Amino acid sequence: MPGDKSISHRAAMIAALAGGSSRLRNYAFSQDCLATVSCLQQLGAGITRIGPDLQVQTVGGFSAPATLLDCGNSGSTMRMLAGVLAGQAFAATLTGDESLRARPMRRIIEPLELMGARFESQNGCPPLTIDGTQSLSPISYRLPVASAQVKSSILLAALQAAGRTRVIEPTATRDHTERMLQWFGVPLEIVRSTDSSETTIAIEGPASFPARDISIPGDISSAACFIAAATLLTGSDLVLEDVGLNTTRTKFLSVLQSLGAQIDIENVRNECNEVVGLVRVRGGMESPAADRTERAALSGSLIPELIDELPLLAVLATQIEGGLEIREAAELRVKETDRIAATVHNLRSMGAEVEEYPDGLAVNGPVRLRGATIEPRGDHRIAMAFTVAALIAESDSEIADSDCVNVSFPEFFALLAGITEH
Ligand code: S3P
Repeated sequence: MPGDKSISHRAAMIAALAGGSSRLRNYAFSQDCLATVSCLQQLGAGITRIGPDLQVQTVGGFSAPATLLDCGNSGSTMRMLAGVLAGQAFAATLTGDESLRARPMRRIIEPLELMGARFESQNGCPPLTIDGTQSLSPISYRLPVASAQVKSSILLAALQAAGRTRVIEPTATRDHTERMLQWFGVPLEIVRSTDSSETTIAIEGPASFPARDISIPGDISSAACFIAAATLLTGSDLVLEDVGLNTTRTKFLSVLQSLGAQIDIENVRNECNEVVGLVRVRGGMESPAADRTERAALSGSLIPELIDELPLLAVLATQIEGGLEIREAAELRVKETDRIAATVHNLRSMGAEVEEYPDGLAVNGPVRLRGATIEPRGDHRIAMAFTVAALIAESDSEIADSDCVNVSFPEFFALLAGITEH
């Protein structure tokens, strides 16, 4: 699998904040992660590609960019870079494509303004001009939305603030920023509440730290499409090596296992403060799925840890006895596209029975899908999830605008073709 997208963004930004030269092995060369690279280059970081790796050389601080910083389709780039820029002594403007320019940024503006940065936006949406300051104040901030991007943005600003910043997250989200800061030698205090799912992360600024090499594991969210495809296609036997298995990202595997998928995890080890291992998937669902009569349900604290895999789970639900209901997932409506609407629309085109709710959807199963023209609406995860649906449909499907997979996984169609037998 290509390098993990979430970890790649963080590695580039944190290496650019470090002192010296860091080698980032297995960097994700997808459009999103390349947008992060080009923004950092415009800020003065020396970044070169060496085969599958990235070499990041810092030059003692960032400088004001000559033009707008274009984050493309990448919410992670914009939100996390805003945290970096909050602590700079210059103003910079972040913009992006049409999809990104419609996405909510108040969630980062509010905490970063409390720390002392000033913002201009279009009613809370990009373009976003950040007037940074080298005298950021620490804050204690409870996340109103479960978002790893917002948490990370505050932590990156906190590195540059004078004093102790605390971020309180009511439910767990991916913790790659915390792990990577620790890898780079930045002390963090992480306290998990014993009587709730709350976690407090405290960081003391200003923190300077030296460069360090890092290996980026394979992307589990990209792997999820292949794991779903292998599960749905009887006779499959698929082995994925060196995949990231951080437990804030692996709920997709446990949900699939609970539905009867045959997934084994082996050779689990720690690499650069992340968990990595091998995933083996055999085709077909074992008995639990067949025995179940009730509809499976996903909601609450599970949602943030499944967020990028929910469209794929909705596709899988069409093949599950009793189907699946996903609730409390309104965040899906503010992703690269409204993923609830896009999933419902494309599932219905394929003949599935779906109910749409403001905060989710319910899918009946099992049903035989028919081929259709899929409209991903520019969203890479929708394009890939419905390519998996197309593999099990009765007739051919066409994925319109399929280039959008380049946002996270340019090799997707070639890799899939290479391991699928007709
Ligand atoms: C990401 C966090 C999630 C996820 C996105 C990547 C990250 O977004 O959907 O694909 O790398 O931190 P939110 O923070 O908006 O939930």
